[in-house]
Amino acid sequence: MKKKVFYTFVLLSLFSLGAIGQSTLHLHTDQAETKINREIYGHFAEHLGRCIYGGIYVGEDSDIPNIRGFREDLVYALKDMEIPLLRWPGGCFGDTYHWKDGIGPKHERPSMVNVHWGGVTEDNSFGTHEFLEFCELIEAEPYININVGSGTVQEASEWVEYVTSNNISPMTDLRKKNGREEPWDVKYWGIGNENWGCGGNMTPEYYADLYNRFAGYCRGDLYRIAGGPNVDDYNWMEVLMEKTTRHRHLVQGVSLHNYTFTNSWTDKGSATDFDESDWISVLNNTLKMETLVERHSTIMDKYDPEKRIGLIVDEWGNWFSVEPGTNPGFLYQQNTLRDALVAGINLNLFNNHADRVKMSNIAQTVNVLQSVILTKDEEIVLTPTYYVFKMYAVHQDATLIPLNLKTGQYEYDGKSVPSVYGSASTKDGVVSITLCNLNPTKAETIEVTITGQDFSSSTGQIVTAKNMNDYNDFGLEEKVTLKSFEVKKPKNGKVSVELPAKSVVLVQLQ
Ligand code: AHR
Repeated sequence: MKKKVFYTFVLLSLFSLGAIGQSTLHLHTDQAETKINREIYGHFAEHLGRCIYGGIYVGEDSDIPNIRGFREDLVYALKDMEIPLLRWPGGCFGDTYHWKDGIGPKHERPSMVNVHWGGVTEDNSFGTHEFLEFCELIEAEPYININVGSGTVQEASEWVEYVTSNNISPMTDLRKKNGREEPWDVKYWGIGNENWGCGGNMTPEYYADLYNRFAGYCRGDLYRIAGGPNVDDYNWMEVLMEKTTRHRHLVQGVSLHNYTFTNSWTDKGSATDFDESDWISVLNNTLKMETLVERHSTIMDKYDPEKRIGLIVDEWGNWFSVEPGTNPGFLYQQNTLRDALVAGINLNLFNNHADRVKMSNIAQTVNVLQSVILTKDEEIVLTPTYYVFKMYAVHQDATLIPLNLKTGQYEYDGKSVPSVYGSASTKDGVVSITLCNLNPTKAETIEVTITGQDFSSSTGQIVTAKNMNDYNDFGLEEKVTLKSFEVKKPKNGKVSVELPAKSVVLVQLQ
């Protein structure tokens, strides 16, 4: 039997045995119109465990190579991943944080107890100046979250003035005294965090009134983000939208928080020790983000039909049990190929809803929850999630191409999820398609048809691994990384792509 005939025979047999799935994808490049904000690829760094201290900041006197106290290896890794935006200082920590404790000479800064995360004492050596210098270093836009839970309106108003004002005023004098002549250009300001919970246990009515008050005193051409609902609290969104849009100029975004657990908040499951049943459970749970985005958007449409207000998913990602032997308050977890799939799915989902989702922030950048980077003393690990963000950077500020994807279902243990999940965009004449094959045991062939543009060349990248719970660890060769992926040449506006089982793939056509 000739080689080509033999391969065709093997492929046909695999299809008929159901060992390879088949999907179709139709892209209308002529219908591309919505911009995918680069801020959708944003991150979140809280004073929690070893995220700030030890992760981002080691201090100038550290033996770990650093640039003005910031870990050098991490700075280069984040730049290389093209991190566009960073949210700080919390999280629950944010509503306990008094910014004036974190400015001025470091030896004069008072210490504080991080009551939410491990009860550890912090020396406030990483404060406003350090955060904004770090953002400059990694070339990311800063997003500062203001304390509403235990802070005052004056404190909030003065923080904005200290950072952004060029007037002659006590706050700008103080900033200059602390070594920064020019104001920083900080556009994104969050007003409170999870105010239905750790940020003050408020009702939506009470918080919305407080929001209007705080927002009014945070002056300037700012993008103000109201503390939105927890998961599917649609009433919170309804009340908040109704009350805040009475003062339309004061609200530019509303946040949404949604984490993925293996089963539930009380049964988070292990980050690394899981089977296929846990695999599909996590993917099934993370896909619920789509319903949340759609239902919250429908409520927002009622008060903001022109979609001026962004849905800001400023906390998302996998939340598993902490690694055995680590401080339960530090939320340190490993990161496997399953995390890569979760990242790929959510980023595709946010791209596909870019008309309303204007920013998202994975929790959290380093050493906490679904991190892109893990550190241990002077060692650093780039996680599978890191490589997905690096791969997906092609979508930043590109134009979304609506996609018509027809795919089967991957079923296991009574659960069912789509076999393939994807999104596509176009920038500078290059079409980028990111596809996740959710099935851990079955490859998938996708017949891609493109209308509206001719293509003659194709390239690809892939994140996959031998086992679904493979991860990268300190001192060992990487098991999950970004590799190049061979894609056939497009012919007459069509290309056939074979997605290996449990993979995240980028196909670029030109
Ligand atoms: O990201 C960890 C915590 O999760 C944040 O502090 C809080 O906002 C959320 O509950």
